[in-house]
Amino acid sequence: MTSNVTQPGDIREVAVIGLGLMGSGIAELIARSGRSVDAIEINQGFLDQGMARVRASLDRAVSRGRLTDTARDEILARIRPIDDVATGVAGADLVIEAIPERIELKKTLFAQLDEACRADAILATNTSSLSVTEIAGGTRDPARVAGLHFFNPAPVMKLVEVITTVLTSPETAGTLAGLSRDLGKTPVAVTDRAGFIVNALLLPYLNHAVHLLETAQATREDIDKAATAGLGLPMGPLTLLDLIGLDTCLAVLETLADEFGGTRYVHAPLLRKLCDARLFGRKSGRGFYDYQRKSTAADHELAPVPAEVALIRDRDGRLDELASQITAAGISVVSQPADETGLVIVAADPRHRVLDAALAAGHPADVVGVHFVEAGNGKPGLAELVLPDVTAAATAGRAAALAARIGLNAVTSRDRPGFLLEALAYAQFNDAVRMFQDGYASPADIDTAMMLGCGYPRGPLQMLDEAGAANVVSVLDAMHAATGDPAFTPVPLLAEYATAGTRFRAGAEG
Ligand code: CAA
Repeated sequence: MTSNVTQPGDIREVAVIGLGLMGSGIAELIARSGRSVDAIEINQGFLDQGMARVRASLDRAVSRGRLTDTARDEILARIRPIDDVATGVAGADLVIEAIPERIELKKTLFAQLDEACRADAILATNTSSLSVTEIAGGTRDPARVAGLHFFNPAPVMKLVEVITTVLTSPETAGTLAGLSRDLGKTPVAVTDRAGFIVNALLLPYLNHAVHLLETAQATREDIDKAATAGLGLPMGPLTLLDLIGLDTCLAVLETLADEFGGTRYVHAPLLRKLCDARLFGRKSGRGFYDYQRKSTAADHELAPVPAEVALIRDRDGRLDELASQITAAGISVVSQPADETGLVIVAADPRHRVLDAALAAGHPADVVGVHFVEAGNGKPGLAELVLPDVTAAATAGRAAALAARIGLNAVTSRDRPGFLLEALAYAQFNDAVRMFQDGYASPADIDTAMMLGCGYPRGPLQMLDEAGAANVVSVLDAMHAATGDPAFTPVPLLAEYATAGTRFRAGAEG
């Protein structure tokens, strides 16, 4: 048993096994902290690739003036590439495993580490979702085994999930949390459950984005823009899938599906197809986007801007400002559509079909719904242009031209409840409440994890509070009614908070 308390400062030599995307980032991070790193791979080719990645990352920091040439060389000198596990781990105070996500490989490796490491060395796995308990199960001293989960890019993202099993000693967990702080990260302590906090919330959201793309709800660019412009996230979900690696995402989803069941974790067929085609994202040059070809997205020609627009105002005055913007652009606004109007705008509500408003307004083929989303933080908001399937293609073109003329930050969505932004966000908020309801993590830890692990400007539960639990429940109800998918049923605790008007993050900054 590991009984002596190791201070983070006592961890001087670290072995990192696996120099893929995550392992190379972790090796860089640890070497930057002044520690020596044995960087271990199974052959020279993988070692060269991993070291090239570390070098490129450090070179970028130098070119941005964040690091001097000398400091870069010192960091690199602290990393010793090695292609033999037993030699590499022999003197290590801590081993961090970052090999491919295959349980048999990891169990075999940990059994080997048991033999090859010093008795007081800590053994950590960077697994994204596999059972740390199962990985530890093959060792003789599971008290010294824990999860230490970093986020991509590891040198940048501030979160580390420290995962304990029922057998992990408090000393091991304490040392890893202290070390994380020493590396400039914020540790969040969790127990061993598939996906831990972040991946259990992130992956179903990413998968949902793929479903939206696959079912032609919107283009990949608009799905990504809804998340960045509407939620303030640093990257859209399809760009983030490409960053993480589609194979990794698929593997995490499969683990989540095994552990929790339910439609929310069933991977979108398109995700599997891209993996089968070995289009894994940035690391292979192409995923949802192509990183090898220069963008050929020449500005496609916009339809002519209509001379007259019919705008059906609602009692809430949601389109009043839009009417002024259109008038200011020299386009006349009428309240009743005529045959020659060509574009009829109605206020769209993510709980209701635009189709019904379109039929009520007459001229359904000419109707476009507009839904404004406030971005907060002083950033320009997002306008969702919502197209019922009966809307004519020419109408959609005119709406896009109008949006461009008056400077709306617009995305286009098919007419399905939740449209784009709420469909993506509210389903994730529901998952976050389920995680709290399950007793797995506190609202504060959930929000911290998503902010520091994925760069969210505010955590999902704070955003839920801002949107209003009752509002979120009613959009989810509409999504459930339209799709029949039980994954969108509001979880009982969310329904309870909505009824009681209680906030999840009462006291958190608004
Ligand atoms: N390695 C090292 N540093 C990197 C880097 C990399 N791969 N990518 C970016 N950086 C650094 C840049 O050098 C820059 O540093 P300085 O400010 O010191 O100059 C900084 O990060 C910002 O980079 P950029 O200006 O190039 O780009 P950006 O502002 O668009 O930020 C980003 C890039 C940090 C990746 C940001 O888009 C972001 O936070 N995205 C969300 C990423 C995310 O969600 N990660 C978690 C994925 S889930 C996961 O990893 C867990 C799992 O198990 C699957």
